[in-house]
Formats: sequence, C-alpha cells, structure tokens
Amino acid sequence: MSPLHRSKWLLLWKLGISRRCLLIVSLQAGFIVAFFIVHLLFIRKSSLRSGALHVPREGAYLRFSSLCPQVKVSKDNSADKLPWKIRQNMFLPRNELSWALQRRNALPPRNLDLFPVLPADHIVIVLYVHNRPAYLKVALEGLSKVVGISEALLVVSHDGFFPEMNSLVESINFCQVKQLFAPFSPHIFPDSFPGTSLGDCNKADEHNCTGDVDQYGNYRAPRIVSLKHHWWWMMNTVWDGLLETHNYSSHILFIEEDHFLFPNALMNIRALTAMKACKCPSCYMANLAPADVNFKGERRPILVADKIGNVGYAFNRSIWRKIHQYADEFCSFDDYNWDITMWVAVYPEWEGAAYSLRGPRRSAQHFGKCGLHQGQKAGEPPCFDEGGQMPPVEEEDNYYNSNPDWLVRHSIIRGYDRGFKGWGGWGDKRDRNLCLDFASMYHMGVNTEQMHNRGSLR
Ligand SMILES: *[C@@H]1O[C@H](CO)[C@@H](O)[C@H](O)[C@H]1NC(C)=O
Ligand SMILES: *[C@@H]1O[C@H](CO)[C@@H](O)[C@H](O)[C@H]1NC(C)=O
Ligand SMILES: *[C@@H]1O[C@H](CO)[C@@H](O)[C@H](O)[C@H]1NC(C)=O
Repeated sequence: MSPLHRSKWLLLWKLGISRRCLLIVSLQAGFIVAFFIVHLLFIRKSSLRSGALHVPREGAYLRFSSLCPQVKVSKDNSADKLPWKIRQNMFLPRNELSWALQRRNALPPRNLDLFPVLPADHIVIVLYVHNRPAYLKVALEGLSKVVGISEALLVVSHDGFFPEMNSLVESINFCQVKQLFAPFSPHIFPDSFPGTSLGDCNKADEHNCTGDVDQYGNYRAPRIVSLKHHWWWMMNTVWDGLLETHNYSSHILFIEEDHFLFPNALMNIRALTAMKACKCPSCYMANLAPADVNFKGERRPILVADKIGNVGYAFNRSIWRKIHQYADEFCSFDDYNWDITMWVAVYPEWEGAAYSLRGPRRSAQHFGKCGLHQGQKAGEPPCFDEGGQMPPVEEEDNYYNSNPDWLVRHSIIRGYDRGFKGWGGWGDKRDRNLCLDFASMYHMGVNTEQMHNRGSLR
C-alpha cells in the first residue's frame, strides 16, 4: 500500500458529499471561534480606552514614577556646570518701563492664598503670550479644566505689556500663577533698540544708518525679531533666573496662547515624561501633540517617537543645559523663527535624531488660524483673527490615554534640517548680541545676586 492510500481520510474528494460539507462547516466555525478568542484576548485589551488606566476627572493622584521603575533618576547636577562661555561685556537695554517690569517679575506668584502649598512633585507649565486676547481666553478656558491644574505652577510670560492680556492673566483663579514680562522686548522700547531707533536702516540703498542686512538683504523689523527674543529670554529666565524653579529638576511643559490643553494633558505629560527614560531612551523631550499641527494622532495603541513639535513640549533641566550650550548657534542663525532655529542649528548638533515621545492621541492642540511666526509673509500685515474657536472636547479627552505596554514607533523626521539657510530676519548684530546677553545674564555675579535677593530689585 502506498502512503497516499493510507492517508485517504485526509483527501476530501474521497469522502462522501455530506461528510465533506460537515468538515468544511466545522472548519469554518472553528476559525470564527478562534478569531473571536484572539480578538477578545489581544485586540480589545490594548485598545485606546480600555487598555489605558482609567483616571476619572476627580480621580486620585497617580504616581507615574512607577511607569519606569528600572530607571533611577538622580538629582540633576548638570545645572552646576556651564560649558558655554559667558559674555562679560553685556549690554541690556533699559528704560523706566523695563525697570518697572523687572520689579514686577520679582513678585511672588499670585493665588498663594488659594493654593498655599504645591506638592513636592508638582509640574511647572509655562504659557508664553503676545497680544491675542481672544486666543488667550480660549487657552485659559481649557487650562482651567485640566485635571490636576490646581497642583501646578503656571508661569505666564508676556512679550510686551498689554492691559487686556494682563487683566486676563490676573483673573486666573484655578492655580498659582507666576507672571513675567519680557523687560527687553522691542514692545517696551518705542524709540530705541530693541525697538526702532532714529538712524536705523530701513531700505537697502540707505547709507549712514545703523543696522546689518540679513542674507536676503533686509534690515531688522522689531516686531518680527521680538518672537525669537521672547522665547530665548523666557527659556533662560524660567530655567536659570527664577526662585520659583530654582530647585525644580523635573520637566517643564511649554505652551503658547493659541494652544489648547485637553483635560487629560497633565496626566499624559506626567506619564510620557516618566516613561521616556525606558520606553524611548533616544527621546529628548515629550510632546502632547504630533509635530504636524494638523494631525490629531494615529488613534492606535502605540507610542510615537516623533520630531520635536512646538505644541505642548516638555523637557528637563539637563536638556535645557544642552540647549543653552548652543547659544552661539541659536543666536547667530539667520532665521527669526525660534523653532526653525532649533531644528536647523541646535538639534542637529546633538547625538542621534532629536526625538520626542508622544501618545497616539493629541492632548494639546493649536487652534489659531494664523501662526504668529511661521507663515507671516514679509511686507504683509500680520494675520489677526479674532475668533478663537474652542476645540471640541470629547469624552475620551478626560482620560489618561497612553500606556507603558505599547510599543514605540519611530517616525521619520522630515522638514527643516541642518543645511537649511534660514528665512532671514535675524541679520542685525545688535539682535545677535542681545540674544547672547540673555544667555549670560543669569550667570554673572551681579545678576545672580539680584535674582536671589528680591529686596534689591524693589
Ligand atoms: C552720518 O550721520 C551723522 C548723524 O546721524 C552725521 O553727523 C554725519 O554727518 C553723517 N555722515 C554722512 C557722510 O552723511
Ligand atoms: C533649594 O533647596 C535648598 C536645599 O535643598 C534650600 O536651601 C533652598 O532654600 C531652596 N531654594 C529655593 C529657592 O527654594
Ligand atoms: C532629562 O531628560 C533626559 C532625556 O530624556 C534624560 O536622559 C535625563 O536623564 C533626564 N534628567 C533627569 C535629571 O531626569
């Protein structure tokens, strides 16, 4: 007997028609049952909602440090080392208003009566604003509903002094607020540098005037350079110049006046920053939104190592030291956008691709129709749209929705990179020097003294 004959039971065409049908039907049934078992066991378990820890709005305080238990976070001593060379011949512009604002900056946070003590592991959020009150109203509305906001320190940094913006910030009653005004902003100096001064060059064919052209032959525009100046002043100040953050070694979360935070934002940023060390050692930061501001996320059970985006980014003091070390590169790159400057002149100097860890669903969103910086065309008036629209908040946005069990998918980092020449607008030596002075100002004896002694500033 050949082996083929012996295995005749397996040969369907040798069976009777009814047995053949029965076999096929049972195979199909078995397959369907197996499919459902697999689905129940794996797919549902890891779906966005049911796989994540449920933290109700009024829920208990989660200890996220347990998300990355094998990584010991030591106290960050890198703040003591300062590899960048401090400039000694500093010139910071002064007028009456700038002195007054500096005195205001030294005031303690507001709402200490409502929120007298912050937990030891509180989070610091920095909101930097210019002059779009309709947007700020929406941003504050969102912030007031963020779970855990009452245990955060909110630092608001103003570029210029605008009464309507100021009164909106003064009306915040949901957390401690440390208010800062950039005292060297072009908006503070109506008739001298960093504002416009008599004798400044305007047109390309002018002679006997003050100013340097950028790579495209244009002179500085105070309103435009103010954005990069403010960001850099604000970064130096919140990391190196504030009593309130002096001992703070965790992550600081940064948002702008046209960024909306969903209720789960703080839960997610705590989780992402805690997971970062073991889930994505190559991630320098954590982000609450994809780098592509129009994308809301994959909505699949994954974590994403994405390009560092400028909506809801958070990093710690070691990363700040890494940024500060490249002050020369930051201050001399001929582009008036701080974010493009970082992508082109700073991050490429770091080891490996500069990734940021984020979840698969955004918990921060850019809602302005016009970006204040990118997209503003030379010669055209700045885009102002009055209607700040509140993004819709869905049920899911109330819950913590990342999960340390998910795999990390690395995106391909596209866009501005080393070699890009810059959009210009940053060619004037005075702007470059002021920028370098911001990097030095908290590291010179006299200023540090002032910083630590509020009395002397009054
Ligand atoms: C340049 O400007 C200064 C004052 O702004 C003036 O005193 C001087 O005569 C000017 N020089 C020339 C060559 O126009
Ligand atoms: C920072 O911590 C040190 C010691 O832990 C303490 O002496 C100092 O007062 C703290 N500084 C501030 C500004 O809280
Ligand atoms: C700060 O973040 C970086 C990047 O994730 C990490 O390597 C470093 O250990 C962190 N520093 C501290 C003190 O946690």
